[in-house]
Amino acid sequence: MCGIIGYIGDKKTSDILIDGLKRLEYRGYDSCGIAVINGVGGLYLKRVSGRVDALDALAASDPVKGARAGIGHTRWATHGAPSEDNAHPHTDCSGSVVVVHNGIIENYLELKEILLKAGHKFKSETDTEVIVHLLEEKLKNLDVAEKNARQAMLEPVFFEAVRRTIADLKGAFALAAAWAKCPAILLAARQHSPLVAGLGEGENFIASDVSAFLKHTKRVVFLNDGEIAAVKKEGVTFFDFKGRKLERESIVIQWDSTMAEKGGYKHFMLKEIHEQPEAVEDTLRGRLLPISGELLEREINLPLELIKKFKRLQVIACGTAYHAGLVARYVFENFGMPTEVDFASEFSDRAKITDKDTLVIAISQSGETADTLHASREAKVSGAKVLAITNTVGSTLTREADFVLYTHCGPEIGVASTKAFMGQLAAVYLLGVHFATARKKLALAEARTYAEELLKLPRLAEELFLSEKSIAAMAGACAGSEHFLFIARHINFPIALEGALKIKEISYVHAEGYAAGEMKHGPIAIIDKGMPVLAVATTSKAISLMAGNIEEAKARGARVIAIVDEDSRKLIKAADYIQVPKTMELLSPMLNVIPLQLFAYYVALAKKCDIDKPRNLAKSVTVR
Ligand code: AGP
Repeated sequence: MCGIIGYIGDKKTSDILIDGLKRLEYRGYDSCGIAVINGVGGLYLKRVSGRVDALDALAASDPVKGARAGIGHTRWATHGAPSEDNAHPHTDCSGSVVVVHNGIIENYLELKEILLKAGHKFKSETDTEVIVHLLEEKLKNLDVAEKNARQAMLEPVFFEAVRRTIADLKGAFALAAAWAKCPAILLAARQHSPLVAGLGEGENFIASDVSAFLKHTKRVVFLNDGEIAAVKKEGVTFFDFKGRKLERESIVIQWDSTMAEKGGYKHFMLKEIHEQPEAVEDTLRGRLLPISGELLEREINLPLELIKKFKRLQVIACGTAYHAGLVARYVFENFGMPTEVDFASEFSDRAKITDKDTLVIAISQSGETADTLHASREAKVSGAKVLAITNTVGSTLTREADFVLYTHCGPEIGVASTKAFMGQLAAVYLLGVHFATARKKLALAEARTYAEELLKLPRLAEELFLSEKSIAAMAGACAGSEHFLFIARHINFPIALEGALKIKEISYVHAEGYAAGEMKHGPIAIIDKGMPVLAVATTSKAISLMAGNIEEAKARGARVIAIVDEDSRKLIKAADYIQVPKTMELLSPMLNVIPLQLFAYYVALAKKCDIDKPRNLAKSVTVR
């Protein structure tokens, strides 16, 4: 997730762009830049690897004069580490066309090969740079008789070149483009990434979200997928991707800028819970079909030979990432790959059991967790190869691991991890299907079935939010409890642990996650009258055993809230139910965790805790 902004009007463009980027930094902050058209044909470009403040200082040291239009970008890297070269805006070979982009271009490698053959010179490792060179190519093919074309005549040519460019793109994009030869227009397009136009008086804006320009105007038009905005000082005109003009009504936003950063949600954590369908979609995007193993070979350079020969998988991680690792064990072993999972902090003494036949999988959202880094280094000393699953491009773990699979969740601001966890699960399922296919443990037809079910999950997760109000009510009713118990079986046992961790982290009350089958061996003694017990009881091979565990808890006075699907609901007698959409048992953790995240959030909300910045906790634990 990145932040883009465009401005056209009579104010100082660079100031407007930089101020807007500061308000978009929660969307990405590893590098940034602005491009400003200073008169016909002139382009002022400033980019830094770092925060917007550094860009501000750079622009102040070499101010641009007489500029009335420009675009800016603050980046959360997905392709190519944070650096000035990889920072947006990206320019074409002529240096007169610039583009900023938020999203993932799935077919960028194919397009890049074509453009390289056509003689284009690339300066970055990003997928975005393909867009600006493709646009340059389209402009050339439109055979612009630039020498005698008046500027006004060039605008329709620029529009058509942008329209043809986006027709070649596959994937997700919110992009803005500017051409130094057309200083009176900016063009923007939206496909699966947010984009909103801000309509001012004698000035207009385009941005990833309203927070970038809310101090200038509250009148906006949210673009839909498949739409292009032609942004001029006099007004903004909308078109579909075929170039047909659209009538779009503006609305007036009631948010203040703080609310806007949270997309209207009260806390980043709630916003990020709701961003999970998008995080899954972006992490799976372009990586699942066709099932051909190319993800492993081309994107993460994991040689298929190594996959075929490793004897054991060893997962190391901390906290929520460790729970993703526990789910990974069920997934990998479901496909016949022996897997161990350890807290990174406990693994160091065991690292010597790894060897060249072990593939270590280090899971870390930040890529900076000291325990995980230490354990990964120990494993490498023992001869193991390390594959990192992380959300942060250029983090220490990515530089030290042998292979990296990125989740594409965008920055996670809330200390309590939610969408990053979901991205880690998506990455685990990706690897499971690819490993199993490569090791002939899964026929291609079966692999396709898993892939198709996985690709349905974002939409199923969206459905889940229809129960949010009832989950909030249940949480409110339990908020006074001093103890919570979460129980589940098999692949959902890690989800019980994750649900308990969420409550502990943000509500500061005691919560235990337990394997339901283990309750009789002691823990059931802690159940008191009215104690909330959250039981994950969706359809599974063990559902009748789970139903028995729920009865045992109820018999001791527990208030059982059961997470069920339409089939398992008929077998479970609980005080309350949270129904989730039906999916394969193996994939059910990705849906079952969401009600527990929401439950924890609303308990903390009822207790008026500091949800985004819980006491004693840091977003990344960089000490051992
Ligand atoms: C999760 O809600 C916590 N914030 C914490 O357990 C976190 O998952 C853990 O510190 C690991 O962080 P990492 O994924 O960045 O390595």
